Amino acid sequence: MEITKALHTDHQELKKLIRAVNKSEDGAERERLFTQFAELLVKHSRAEEKVVYDALIKTGEEEEEEAGYEGYTEHGLADSLLAQLKGGADPMSPEWSAQAKVMMEILEHHIKEEEDEVFSQVKEDFDTTERKDMGDAFEAQKEKVKA
Ligand SMILES: [Fe+2]
Ligand SMILES: [Fe+2]
Repeated sequence: MEITKALHTDHQELKKLIRAVNKSEDGAERERLFTQFAELLVKHSRAEEKVVYDALIKTGEEEEEEAGYEGYTEHGLADSLLAQLKGGADPMSPEWSAQAKVMMEILEHHIKEEEDEVFSQVKEDFDTTERKDMGDAFEAQKEKVKA
């Protein structure tokens, strides 16, 4: 699958899951949905860094390099929020709810930037065959990540 298609598929699923986490009014359901969300987020982020961000950074183009590092930075924020959410607070508590809300907000912002900016850079810098190979590498990389 072409890399931007593979990324978009995950993005849709991640948005769906974090919205459902926020919407749910049942602690056990929140936990179940959050576990699914966290696993996909970690796999997606690590594979995206290796296959997409590193490739952009390697182009040596200033805008691409910055986009790659910006992506790494935002993933770092999401990772630290993920650690807080995994910290053991009651999923129905105001504290956990606030963290889940911020996670949804930063995720939506991050995905929008990726789809608006990173996708066009990827399409500009890599031809269809390369993008297809990146898609395959992304799927293979996701399998290797322990989430
Ligand atoms: Fe992404
Ligand atoms: Fe990302």
